[in-house]
Amino acid sequence: MKKDLLSIKDLAASEIEALSVLAADLKEQQRKGIGHPFLAGKTLAMIFEKPSLRTRVTFDVGMAQLGGRALYLAPGDIRLGEREAVKDVARNLDRWVDGIVARTFSHLTIEELARHAAVPVINGLSDLTHPCQVLADLFTIWERRGRLGGLRVAYIGDGNNVCHSWLYGAARMGIELVAACPKGYEPDGRILAAARREAETSGGRMTITLLHDPRQAAQGADVLYTDVWTSMGQEAEWAKRRRDFQGFQVDAALVHLAKPDVLVMHCLPAHRGEEITDEVLDGPRSIVYDQAENRLHLQKAILMTLLGD
Ligand code: CP
Ligand code: NVA
Repeated sequence: MKKDLLSIKDLAASEIEALSVLAADLKEQQRKGIGHPFLAGKTLAMIFEKPSLRTRVTFDVGMAQLGGRALYLAPGDIRLGEREAVKDVARNLDRWVDGIVARTFSHLTIEELARHAAVPVINGLSDLTHPCQVLADLFTIWERRGRLGGLRVAYIGDGNNVCHSWLYGAARMGIELVAACPKGYEPDGRILAAARREAETSGGRMTITLLHDPRQAAQGADVLYTDVWTSMGQEAEWAKRRRDFQGFQVDAALVHLAKPDVLVMHCLPAHRGEEITDEVLDGPRSIVYDQAENRLHLQKAILMTLLGD
């Protein structure tokens, strides 16, 4: 793997598979109570410009389980690019720590950190992508279905950071991705085009489709995936988005259109009653908490791969 994990587009299919295999192994060791301090003595700095539950806790707990430690730097602590230039933050941190996780607004900030830090930089979500989430999602589906290639994933909702990472991930792994987004909320055209080119070369007959009809997308799906309509940083648009996304809620009727054994997934946090109903989120097809658990195991695999000796 490259020094940094900035986007799924930088990973080969074999590297994504290797991360899942290692994550499964670490999960088993954890379950059996077998210690695995492969990162003893290592330190991870975690820079957050936005709130987080899953990403923060799983990287912190993951480092502890691997025998290392993590240092949380809250939004107000270092004020990236305000109190100090991004490159100076990178050049200081790499003298003290062995890796950096960053959650930022601008994706350029993470790229700049990676360019100037001698140690690995991991994207813990930017406005553009959320690779750790989708790598954990791919692991979760692979655990359940034993394969990824040929599955049909319907992504219903906003063409946002999670959707972008799904486009890259699906194209790379030969998954048929059908995204249904309201008009004006489609994914970035360049990422869509890149994913389509990739799907043609690597996935063969697998396609990336963009629709505006959630029902058509959900037909026969193996996985129904959704995310919030209003992402972090877009709070001022909440009322307008709520109106514009009417008809895009994942509810029981939509689940009914998918395969009977469909997996309902959501990266969380969920805005219950907006993009997904309580009934579906808490229902028998939902695997959202397994998905959240797997952030831990998959990110431990990332940490071992990038920070290990
Ligand atoms: N899914 C996810 O990244 O959750 P947090 O925002 O809580 O980290
Ligand atoms: N799209 C969401 C994902 C949160 C994990 C956001 O950026 O807020």
